[in-house]
Amino acid sequence: MIAALLARDPVVLAPMEDVTDAPFRRACRGVGAAICVTEFVAADQIVVGSKLARRRIALAADDRPTAIQIYGSDPDLLQRAAVIAAAARPTFVDINCGCWIPKIAARGAGAGWLRDPAAMVEMAGRIVAAVEVPVTVKTRIGWGPESDMPIVELARRLEDVGVAAIAIHCRTAQVGHTGPADWSWARRAREAVSIPVIVNGDVKTAADAVRALAETGCAGVMVGRAAIDHPWIFREARALLSPSQAGGAPLVGPTDAERVAMYRELVIGNAAARGERIGVAMTRRHVRVLGELAAAIRPQLFGASTLVDTLAVLDAREIPMRHIATHA
Ligand SMILES: Cc1cc2nc3c(=O)[nH]c(=O)nc-3n(C[C@H](O)[C@H](O)[C@H](O)COP(=O)(O)O)c2cc1C
Repeated sequence: MIAALLARDPVVLAPMEDVTDAPFRRACRGVGAAICVTEFVAADQIVVGSKLARRRIALAADDRPTAIQIYGSDPDLLQRAAVIAAAARPTFVDINCGCWIPKIAARGAGAGWLRDPAAMVEMAGRIVAAVEVPVTVKTRIGWGPESDMPIVELARRLEDVGVAAIAIHCRTAQVGHTGPADWSWARRAREAVSIPVIVNGDVKTAADAVRALAETGCAGVMVGRAAIDHPWIFREARALLSPSQAGGAPLVGPTDAERVAMYRELVIGNAAARGERIGVAMTRRHVRVLGELAAAIRPQLFGASTLVDTLAVLDAREIPMRHIATHA
């Protein structure tokens, strides 16, 4: 099932905490994303039914295909959390075995599982057996600094216990997000298994996404940070991947009107989902969706603390645009 989804839509929105919530997933789908993954959700919070966890695992009827990502260090809690998450009817449940943040990895959650691959495999197998939906794992090539990364053997063993697909962030946990991602490990893992492998890390443009698929032969490619500033990467990758574009027709970027509409959609969605104050503030993370316009209206935009004021700044954008034209 995941293979079929990826065959149609190979470019996946990566899970990102405080980013890939329902409003952002909707915005990305509006510009070509299909498969999305929620922010990670702590297993213990799912089990106690915290407000945060309930919000993160709630999926609207049109929020499909979306995976719910869970994380934790305790297999029992993870299993119980997976059952609760599966009841929200995600397309699949993803287990985070790649988060490098010390307070998470040091207590055995996220990338901490890479320190004990056998335990990771056993935990994943338990979850596969406990839920009806497919289970996937997102991990890294290794803990670091191994010279021969454990990911290839790990991928084989995860396939053996029924994991439906693996997303590989092609860095070690030790390097976090720094240094180049080594996609060759995703290729090697892909060659070792028959389940879909999704390559992740350092995909900055649509052309990178196409190159990552071509260089690795992976079924999918996952885009994280690049989508925060430029959700149109999904539309652009679709254009590059579609046969009618095979001749390499130049891609036209978003217009200013589309950029403003994107910010508008995000701020309205975030205010509705999180409340006005937090929603307005968190949308500023996406200021670069405004492209060149961002530099001109950033002071007013960041000074606006209500939704009405934010929308007024967006509506008044012609003034700074004229300003740019005059001083070009
Ligand atoms: C702000 C932020 C939040 C993230 N949160 C998560 C998360 O909740 N779960 C996860 O598996 N990875 C998380 N990641 C890692 C991304 O999914 C991805 O693996 C990483 O950013 C590398 O891909 P990129 O180079 O395309 O950004 C996060 C990354 C960023 C930048």
